[in-house]
Amino acid sequence: AAANIGVIGLAVMGSNLARNLASREGNVVAVHNRTHARTEELVAAHPEAGFIAAKTIDDFVAALARPRTAIIMVQAGAGTDAVIDQLAERFEPGDIIVDGGNAHFRDTIAREQRIALTGIHFVGVGISGGEEGALRGPSIMPGGSAESYRTLGPILSSIAAVAEGEPCVTHVGTDGAGHFVKMIHNGIEYADMQLIGEAYDLLRTVGGLEPDDIADVFAQWNRGPLESYLIEITAEILRHTDPATGRPFVDVVLDQAGSKGTGVWTVQTALDLGVPVGGIAEAVFARSVSAKPEQRAAIRRIRSSRPEVQQADASFVEAVAKALFASKLVAYAQGFDAVVAGAEKYGWNIHQDEIARIWRGGCIIRARFLSHVTEAYAQNPDITTLLEAPYFAQAVAEGEDSWRRVVATAAHSGVPVPGFGSALSYYDSLGADRLPAALVQAQRDFFGAHTYRRTDRDGTFHTLWSADQSETKLRGTAG
Ligand code: 6PG
Repeated sequence: AAANIGVIGLAVMGSNLARNLASREGNVVAVHNRTHARTEELVAAHPEAGFIAAKTIDDFVAALARPRTAIIMVQAGAGTDAVIDQLAERFEPGDIIVDGGNAHFRDTIAREQRIALTGIHFVGVGISGGEEGALRGPSIMPGGSAESYRTLGPILSSIAAVAEGEPCVTHVGTDGAGHFVKMIHNGIEYADMQLIGEAYDLLRTVGGLEPDDIADVFAQWNRGPLESYLIEITAEILRHTDPATGRPFVDVVLDQAGSKGTGVWTVQTALDLGVPVGGIAEAVFARSVSAKPEQRAAIRRIRSSRPEVQQADASFVEAVAKALFASKLVAYAQGFDAVVAGAEKYGWNIHQDEIARIWRGGCIIRARFLSHVTEAYAQNPDITTLLEAPYFAQAVAEGEDSWRRVVATAAHSGVPVPGFGSALSYYDSLGADRLPAALVQAQRDFFGAHTYRRTDRDGTFHTLWSADQSETKLRGTAG
């Protein structure tokens, strides 16, 4: 037994993670794949890695030094359980089974409970950064027991991205906490991508810019507060010309967005937790709308005229940047609200400042402004929303006029901005002196006797709407 770590499942993410592990001082990596030819291919292509190729699961387990530590990198789903069971049958108490796929955190909680009975550690680990990240340094979000993290922590630290001198990994919390936080990461990723898409659409449709010019705008934005991986790759994509047609690449891609489910999970979970994540939900819905070609064609057909696109002035590009930044802050604030609520519900001791820190590098949503998120939560972990922290409050205040102007211009011009629009409405809802929720409560009481509370007295009340409209006090003390 010579390997301190093993990887099972050698598709691109698994292979790259195995290569990353092997490239770090002190690691010896055993690799195994259901189809052995894949293992042989990897080992032959990367002799420098010094992999120990395991043909069977028994060979794999025999190759691991104790405590045995194996990272499963198979497609999330039933396949994961099969591999977990194969390992659990052969591992001993104290050994560690890691699931590095995008598993649902509730599955991870259940698996951990099941495996814990055997004395083996089961650890769900969120890994972000795509193929490139897996190879060069991802952001890593491990859950599981503190005990397992003592073995796993140093191994994961050795392969994680480094941001501001520190590896982008932390023990997020117990059992499913790591996969939970990875799921929220993906929800925020959806929101961020949608907002960038809307900014592009506005610059093109209202701003009259060509993809090449917009690439320049994005490249410039990437040197300021908006600096992030997603802005950077957007500039690169917009500059790309389709070799087959010579047209801008973005114009030859079918405008129907797919998804693998983690964004939907985020929204479903947030609904269960009662956390408004409208920015993330709108991003998920925007993908669904895009993938309804029949409905889109029907409305295009029946529309006799189109709104006249408003003229953009010289300040429009800057206004879009501000609207984008403000909307993005809302999406991140909502995502962090979901992290806080999840931690409370599932009993995880999650440090929000640490989460923002490990998202600074390696992951898809890595961005400069995340240091301000870390700072905000480090100063006061109990802020009610990120939007009240000084940096964010000021950024939104500075961008507010532009934000409103951009959303109004979009509405007048017929450019869909579900992300910008819902973010602004969310901000306005939080900031309103009074919300029409009062009327909604009255309606609920009218048709369903669902009761209401009053602004001027304690207690719970019901009005006899269909009788003499007198008010009854149902519960409560002070009169
Ligand atoms: C990451 C990504 C990764 C994957 C998404 C894509 O953090 O590296 O989030 O996990 O690319 O799952 O999700 P969709 O296919 O749903 O867009």
